[in-house]
Amino acid sequence: MFRFRSSASAKQSLLRRSFSSGSVPERKVAILGAAGGIGQPLALLMKLNPLVSSLSLYDIANTPGVAADVGHINTRSQVVGYMGDDNLAKALEGADLVIIPAGVPRKPGMTRDDLFNINAGIVKNLCSAIAKYCPHALVNMISNPVNSTVPIAAEIFKKAGMYDEKKLFGVTTLDVVRAKTFYAGKANVPVAEVNVPVIGGHAGVTILPLFSQATPQANLSGDVLTALTKRTQDGGTEVVEAKAGKGSATLSMAYAGALFADACLKGLNGVPDVVECSYVQSTITELPFFASKVRLGKNGVEEVLDLGPLSDFEKEGLEALKPELKSSIEKGVKFANQ
Ligand code: NAI
Repeated sequence: MFRFRSSASAKQSLLRRSFSSGSVPERKVAILGAAGGIGQPLALLMKLNPLVSSLSLYDIANTPGVAADVGHINTRSQVVGYMGDDNLAKALEGADLVIIPAGVPRKPGMTRDDLFNINAGIVKNLCSAIAKYCPHALVNMISNPVNSTVPIAAEIFKKAGMYDEKKLFGVTTLDVVRAKTFYAGKANVPVAEVNVPVIGGHAGVTILPLFSQATPQANLSGDVLTALTKRTQDGGTEVVEAKAGKGSATLSMAYAGALFADACLKGLNGVPDVVECSYVQSTITELPFFASKVRLGKNGVEEVLDLGPLSDFEKEGLEALKPELKSSIEKGVKFANQ
């Protein structure tokens, strides 16, 4: 059925719309690695986000095409593509949020740590530029191995004298997205209602979903919970194997990256009670970086939340992940300081 509005009420609703969009602050978001498998769909999703007023797409190749393409979409943000080192400064200047999916992805048989040699250098260079050109921006690190690239970023920022631990995030949202999907399938509950915190890090056993805290609650057996945990930990590898040499998760990662970026922007804009899991500088365990629920606010991390009660299975998982996470952190710190 169609409903026709009088021109007066249509005008009023237009006014309301222009007022509400006018009250949304200007926000520049830069994507570094924007022409890649993750970068392109992430650019699309950020172009659809009404909180973004300026979308800066940077890569070492192919950004003009991506920017021209995405730029034709009739949403709020202005899109500019930047290609090559010489244009990195312009891509970053004035950014409120920088999302980094630059670097090589896994092929079958590789661990995330196998990417270290290439991606660590890429992240180091990009973070040096962030320190110089947009030192106040929030940084969402997607490039793997996240367990090491986040500590690398922190060290680079410390050296530049602008490190603010509240502004650096390892993006672990895809682990949460997977845990929710897999849990909903087994628990037979609507996936849109599911919440599952995922803690630890972002590689293999360091990914620890807390299904004991999942909502809506379901009475799943120990065997099912063990299988769900394993599937969440191996979710990335499942995609790498299915893609058979053509890369790792890109579409689901872009979705997860866009969700997390949206949460960061909402926090910056003062929306209350924005809570997401992320790998951040932390004191809730003895490890200096750890993924857990964090409250996002105007300055980035407002609060790192407690882990809450863990099942015995999860307590064991937590102890088991610490040595690997510790060594990945140390590897990153060492690389950044060599
Ligand atoms: P891709 O190879 O399709 O794209 C990477 C892009 O980075 C390319 O366009 C490349 O030109 C660009 N790039 C390389 N060096 C650069 C530099 N110095 N500056 C700017 N751009 C540069 O790879 P894909 O699939 O997009 O994955 C990117 C990264 O994301 C990988 O490290 C991958 O492991 C990681 N990843 C992280 C996930 C997470 O949950 N945090 C999930 C899935 C992937």
